[in-house]
Amino acid sequence: MKRLSIFVSGNGTNLQRIAEYFKDNNDVEIVNVVCNNPNAYAIERAKKLGIPLRMITRQEFNSPEFIREMAALQLDLIVLAGFLWKIPSSLIQAYPKKIVNIHPALLPKYGGKGFYGEHVHEAVVAAKEAFSGITIHYVNEIYDNGEIILQAYTALDEKETPDTLAAKIHQLEQAYFPVAIAFLIKN
Ligand code: GRF
Repeated sequence: MKRLSIFVSGNGTNLQRIAEYFKDNNDVEIVNVVCNNPNAYAIERAKKLGIPLRMITRQEFNSPEFIREMAALQLDLIVLAGFLWKIPSSLIQAYPKKIVNIHPALLPKYGGKGFYGEHVHEAVVAAKEAFSGITIHYVNEIYDNGEIILQAYTALDEKETPDTLAAKIHQLEQAYFPVAIAFLIKN
C-alpha cells in the first residue's frame, strides 16, 4: 500500500482528479489533505471525497510537531496540488525526492515567487510565447527549482488569452498529474 498526502490552497481540481483516479486502486491511499487556506474550495472537495482534512496555520506548518505528525502517517509521497506556501527545509529534508509539485508553465521559465495562478498565464500570453505547458517536478528549497520529472506542452493560438490558455493547461494537468504520481510511487 502506497500512502499519499496532498497539500492544497485553492480550488482543488487536481486533488479531485487524483482522488478519482486512485479511487478503485487498493494499492494507493490518500491518507490526508493538508490545507492552509480556510476559504479553499478544496476543503469541500476533501470532505465529499471522504479524505481526512488537516487545516494548518503557518506556525504549525513550520513546527517540528508537524513533521512528526506527518512521519506518523508513513507517507510514500507528498503531492503539492496548488499549494502556495513555501515548504520548510526541515520537511524537504525529511522527504528527499518524495515531494512533488505541479507548475502551470514550462519551467524554468515563468517560475518562482509571484508566478502562480493567472499571473503565469498572463505573463506567457504577454510574451507571445509559442508554447506553454505543465511541469511536474521534485520540490527543493527554491521555489519551482527542483529536478523536473515531466513536462507536457500546448501551443498558443494567435488569439490566445490568459483564460483560454488556463483551460488548456488545466486539461494537461488533469491528464498527466495522476499518471505521473502513479509512475512515481511504483518506481
Ligand atoms: C494548478 O494550476 C497548478 O498547476 C498550480 O495551482 C493550480 C491548482 O489548481 N500549482 P487546483 O487547486 O488543483 O484547482
